[in-house]
Amino acid sequence: MASSRKLHVLFITSEVYPLCKTGGLGDVSAALPIALRELNIDVKLLLPGYPQVLAGVKYKSKVAEFNELQQFPSSTLLLARLSLNKSENIPVFVIDCPGLFNREGGPYMDTLGREWPDNALRFGLLSKIGAILSSDASPIAWHPHITHCNDWQSGLTPAYLHFYHGKKAATVMTIHNLAFQGIFPPGSVVQLGLPMDSFDMNGVEYYGNMSFLKAGLYYADHITTVSANYAHEIQKEPLGFGLQGLLSTRRNNLTGITNGIAINHWNPTTDSYLTKNYSSKKLSDKAANKHTLQQLMGLTIDANTPLFGVISRLNHQKGTDLLIQIAPQLIKIPAQLIVLGSDHAELEHQLSMLAQTYPEAIAVRIGFDEALSHLIEAGVDCFLMPSRFEPCGLNQMYSQRYGTPPIVHATGGLLDTVVDCTPTTLAEGSASGFLFEPVTANSLLDAIRRAVQTFHNKKTWQQLQKNGMAKDFSWNASAAAYQKIYSSLVR
Ligand code: ADP
Ligand code: GLC
Repeated sequence: MASSRKLHVLFITSEVYPLCKTGGLGDVSAALPIALRELNIDVKLLLPGYPQVLAGVKYKSKVAEFNELQQFPSSTLLLARLSLNKSENIPVFVIDCPGLFNREGGPYMDTLGREWPDNALRFGLLSKIGAILSSDASPIAWHPHITHCNDWQSGLTPAYLHFYHGKKAATVMTIHNLAFQGIFPPGSVVQLGLPMDSFDMNGVEYYGNMSFLKAGLYYADHITTVSANYAHEIQKEPLGFGLQGLLSTRRNNLTGITNGIAINHWNPTTDSYLTKNYSSKKLSDKAANKHTLQQLMGLTIDANTPLFGVISRLNHQKGTDLLIQIAPQLIKIPAQLIVLGSDHAELEHQLSMLAQTYPEAIAVRIGFDEALSHLIEAGVDCFLMPSRFEPCGLNQMYSQRYGTPPIVHATGGLLDTVVDCTPTTLAEGSASGFLFEPVTANSLLDAIRRAVQTFHNKKTWQQLQKNGMAKDFSWNASAAAYQKIYSSLVR
């Protein structure tokens, strides 16, 4: 659509670190655009104007107004800059619509954890403005060649564009987690200004309701997801969550691109949240972080007791129930456990009870704490991710980079990014953690025992740490893979 030679990409997202992050999407939305800009791609973000976004961006200027968009309230489009690190300052479009976005609470839920009742309208507006900016009806001069949608919140953009007959950008729909689909009652189709024809099995309909994500998967020119293995898993039950048929039909337009991580932000040699920085050449300095963490969390201070860490949404996907089941046995090994997270109230309560029962060995912090998450990555000996499914997962990569071998269920991106420790992989120099399967309490506990045995063999443990620290988790390869898809669509 755009005429300039440089590839223009509109990257639509509902969260971006550091302004608004509930999980990995926030991290990816900050790091991938930087990596793409390094490839000389002109990427601009489109974000909802939550209070923290309006307060956190710089140099805001008004570029358009939308007053009569179907049943959406009036909104103003701002162009601003977002500082992502010391040297990067990227352009973002922000939708200023106080009626939909200016409220206390999270991006998707209120302070009590209830979904906002008008989420269809909120993210319908994000999708709609995304579509307008991607078409020749756009009120602004910058036109994208590619519009890159992320998760259900921008899933309607490809649908709106499908029914627009002027010139328009090609669309890429990235699935970060198929479990969240943006499902709303059938009446939303008309409310959001989509033709009733689209409410069909071959369209936005999903078991009698409408699904934002399905709309994106059905109408986008290309689909990506965040690891190669997950791209296969979602074409079958149970991880297809009812969309396996559509995904396997579209398999020739479905690519798994494993996420990278922001290696400058997650860097144990410079991380300012750590008590002591360290590198693979001076791993002994890692111990100071363990000491601080044990002290801070009220655990017995002991360098020789293996310390396990978890940073996660606390829910069924992340296998929090398995962790709760094995915790009493884990501490008998002996070992210690630190958990940072929030989500499901009952699981939060059960974890807090464990910490009260075993205060010297188990510590639990309910909430979201970026600083503590860095200290945990550095201070624990081993990281636990018993996720039932995991599209990619970022913490297993952060932990390998921090010399903290992860124990992970062999699923999704965890399988793609962690190499199980065996005599063969140790000899090859590739071992970087521990994989387990099936996802049961017993097999998790077996993997933990295997890790503890290795932990007490100092030389092997250091080898494992160093292997993980030497791996390239940068965005370079992934950004190049996105570039290839963009280029194929423009041609
Ligand atoms: P998901 O997006 O499914 O939650 P990921 O592993 O992709 O899982 O990303 C989660 C991101 O959110 C990581 O950066 C992780 O460190 C962070 N995170 C999760 N829970 C917390 C928390 N309670 N405090 C701080 N960071 C957290
Ligand atoms: C989702 C997934 C997670 C992935 C993240 C970023 O939240 O649950 O596995 O790492 O998105 O793509």
